Amino acid sequence: MAGISIRLSALVALLAPLAVFLAGRVRVLSLAYFNAPGRMPNYANFTSSEIKFTEQIRSCEDVLLVEARGLALLACDPGRETWNTVMGFFVEGEAPHQNAELWAYNYTNPSLSDAQSLSPIEIVGLHTELRTVGFEFHEPSETLFVTNHGREGPRIEQFHLDLETLVATHTRTLSHPLLRAPNSIVALSGSEFFFTNQHHFTARESGRLLWALETYVALPIASVVHAHVLEDGTLDAAVVARQAYPNGIALLNDSTLAVAATSKRLVNLYTILPGEPGRTHGRLQLNTSIWLPFLPDNLAVSKADGALLIAGHPHLLSLNKFSRSRRVCHRPEAVAAGGEKARKMCDKTGAASWASEWTPEDGLKHIYAGWEYPTSSSVVRDREKGVGIVSGLYSKGLLIWRD
Ligand SMILES: *[C@@H]1O[C@H](CO)[C@@H](O)[C@H](O)[C@H]1NC(C)=O
Ligand SMILES: *[C@@H]1O[C@H](CO)[C@@H](O)[C@H](O)[C@H]1NC(C)=O
Ligand SMILES: *[C@@H]1O[C@H](CO)[C@@H](O)[C@H](O)[C@H]1NC(C)=O
Ligand SMILES: *[C@@H]1O[C@H](CO)[C@@H](O)[C@H](O)[C@H]1NC(C)=O
Repeated sequence: MAGISIRLSALVALLAPLAVFLAGRVRVLSLAYFNAPGRMPNYANFTSSEIKFTEQIRSCEDVLLVEARGLALLACDPGRETWNTVMGFFVEGEAPHQNAELWAYNYTNPSLSDAQSLSPIEIVGLHTELRTVGFEFHEPSETLFVTNHGREGPRIEQFHLDLETLVATHTRTLSHPLLRAPNSIVALSGSEFFFTNQHHFTARESGRLLWALETYVALPIASVVHAHVLEDGTLDAAVVARQAYPNGIALLNDSTLAVAATSKRLVNLYTILPGEPGRTHGRLQLNTSIWLPFLPDNLAVSKADGALLIAGHPHLLSLNKFSRSRRVCHRPEAVAAGGEKARKMCDKTGAASWASEWTPEDGLKHIYAGWEYPTSSSVVRDREKGVGIVSGLYSKGLLIWRD
């Protein structure tokens, strides 16, 4: 009897994690059903909205607010249509697209014309390719950190950004063995930040098979890294947590860091523990996780009420198709060359967005869910001015709402 019960408990010990694993996978896969076109719920929890700047900007993965000035900063990379390190596909043989661009949108006055309210940020002193995903601005030190995953390898570019003149002057290029697939950055000062590596196995270096295994099995092996920029411009960095697909990152308060786990449909809240004496990096301890009805991408914190803002992808199949089609659909000459067939394909290829906010008191509330504005990757909100912005990984322009 004892033998059987030992074997049984060994079996249970083996199966319990498997059951947890499978339940987690089913939760993610079930989105293909629940968020299919026609079945996904729609939300538009604001007074009015419009999709703006569709002719000026596209593929803006990240947006952040400088509320004191009524400015939204944007990192937009149309080059993602052919050089996509996040989704792991590359169109070989095509010349690199023009560099990613940074923009500033003055959202204070809705009656300003597009030309008056949207301005490019001039980049000075960077002489390499720039392919962006996430970026971060540390306001007191006017330091801008921009992820760069161009052909020269993964790095973070540091700039000094003057918001009066909208000129970003390149200070240095940061690289480090722990900088593998930088996705999002949150700055603690002008020389200290956390960043996420969304994968351990990158498609470019490790091949698509390992990349896909890590993505779809949601292996908890990718890292959250804490880094200091040293006097000599090098990086002192250490892994402070490992989880599946660390994507957006935001500081909720001095002791809590939120990190999206995209491939698990949740956002992890970590308690930041100080380092032991003599160790500069500290570590993160998982406190709790927030379940979402979509795969979370970037995170932001609303200044006025401290709410965590979460944007992401409700329906992966559509997102995949949509992202691969942009190379044709966003280029008039490619659509013309493809004729009627290409036009039809572009007309019927859509993708969904979902943006929500979370507070410990009220839990999750939905702001926008729908298909009119595709591929939401970031959401920010200025409560005082009653303005919110959703930006899309592969979309033209921005969704801007007012309350
Ligand atoms: C934004 O526009 C308003 C209204 O025209 C103007 O007063 C303000 O100076 C502008 N802000 C910036 C940072 O350019
Ligand atoms: C920080 O935020 C977390 C999550 O909202 C909360 O549980 C915690 O109490 C906050 N801590 C402080 C010091 O405000
Ligand atoms: C989570 O954070 C709260 C608030 O900071 C704290 O009281 C609680 O002990 C933490 N729980 C765990 C499991 O770390
Ligand atoms: C819409 O927003 C209001 C105010 O923030 C909130 O009370 C309500 O619960 C939200 N509705 C949904 C469906 O999340």
